[in-house]
Amino acid sequence: MSERGVGEGYVGAGEVLEGRLPEGNPARLRGWIHRKFVVGGKIFVRLRDSTGVLQCVIDRSRVGDEVYGAFEEAKRESSIVVEGTVHREPRAPGGWELRVTRGHVVWPSEDFPIRGKEGVEFLLDNRHLWLRSTRMRDILKIKHTVLGALREYYLERGWWEVTPPILTGSAVEGGATLFKVDYFGEPAYLSQSAQLYLEVLIYSLERVWAITPSFRAEKSRTRRHLSEYTHFEVEAAWMNMEDMMRVVEETVEHVVSRVLEDRRRELENLGRDTSALERVKRPFPRLTYTEAVERLRSKGVAMEWGEDFGADEEAALTRDFDRPFFVTLFPKQIKAFYMKEYEQDPRLVKGFDLLAPEGYGEIVGGSEREDSYEKLLARIREEGLDPKDYYWYLDLRRYGSVPHSGYGLGVERLVMWIAGLDHIRDATPFPRFRERLRP
Ligand code: 4AD
Ligand code: MG
Repeated sequence: MSERGVGEGYVGAGEVLEGRLPEGNPARLRGWIHRKFVVGGKIFVRLRDSTGVLQCVIDRSRVGDEVYGAFEEAKRESSIVVEGTVHREPRAPGGWELRVTRGHVVWPSEDFPIRGKEGVEFLLDNRHLWLRSTRMRDILKIKHTVLGALREYYLERGWWEVTPPILTGSAVEGGATLFKVDYFGEPAYLSQSAQLYLEVLIYSLERVWAITPSFRAEKSRTRRHLSEYTHFEVEAAWMNMEDMMRVVEETVEHVVSRVLEDRRRELENLGRDTSALERVKRPFPRLTYTEAVERLRSKGVAMEWGEDFGADEEAALTRDFDRPFFVTLFPKQIKAFYMKEYEQDPRLVKGFDLLAPEGYGEIVGGSEREDSYEKLLARIREEGLDPKDYYWYLDLRRYGSVPHSGYGLGVERLVMWIAGLDHIRDATPFPRFRERLRP
């Protein structure tokens, strides 16, 4: 019985709670003391393992003085092994308990610093310990399922996974958020996006994706910006903006339905309203940037055509939709140099953002790419970038350019919305933002 990965000969707490063992069945578990209290001369240990938390009852008359004494002394977070029989017990959390017959403390714990009423900064300083909480465990599992579902979607359709570099010589998303590092005496940058490399790789594999960390030196601390995040990026030859938006739509629908299927219990533990996720069905609504500005103005939001949306503008837009929606065709000046000019209006580019509802905002940014050598070179110059740094990227337009499109999805943004978190920091085990580098 080790299907849940808890190890040969051991049962997971979660398996007992699911009623997978019959009443009275013997079971052996190992884990940590999550909570402990003594009532009526019995010790109640809530044992936590990777699968759940199970009440274990230690009765002196059953285990003898020595074992009873050991558990009496053991503090929270001590690692333990217990053996006994499983029983339905309506008063126990989850309706099951283990009546212990044998057991021992594997390694005692000192006084655990987290007691339950600590503030955000304390929990961030003690992140290495706080990750043991049920809340963090549930979020970690949801993220695992999100990553698996993303891969699954592309694997099943014959796309190729590739490994672009993290150390780079040129910016993708603008100089303001670049992290500079010393590369053997030469300046280099941590990758902001793998896009330019993925564009190279489509000439070899046509349809590719990559999961890499992306780095953004975001100066302000917000609820949705990290300085290091997990970037899921896709690029495909022979696809225009519309084609790529359909890929995004299907991907997001697939991931949400997979999480609802596999992680419903975790979502419920986190208090997520799952009916909002049940509504995530294609097609997602689409509006242009210009329509979005008009819509915001009609709500009394002061905004000029040509300005970018901030978090407040995005949040205001999301109130009109009950599922993710696209904003398309942005003014050139607010988007990156690589986006393709819109054929019907040269002030616009063929970019799209996908915004999550319920106030969350942007989770995906994508575009059709500029395939003309001349236009791309002009844009690079306009942005004040040095064409020499982009010689290899420009070369792609010299040797059999193709129409192509791609997108980038912030995995932590997606997890934040799916899990209903109010801050992005909990969507990653070791969040990085300004003034936070440890643990
Ligand atoms: O919109 P962005 O900047 O687009 C790109 O980087 C493109 N080159 C992607 C591509 O087409 N291959 O970033 C893409 C997504 C955003 O929509 C957002 O979800 C996430 O990355 N993101 C961040 N997530 C967390 N913290 C940050 N500081 C983020 N910046 C962007
Ligand atoms: Mg963006």
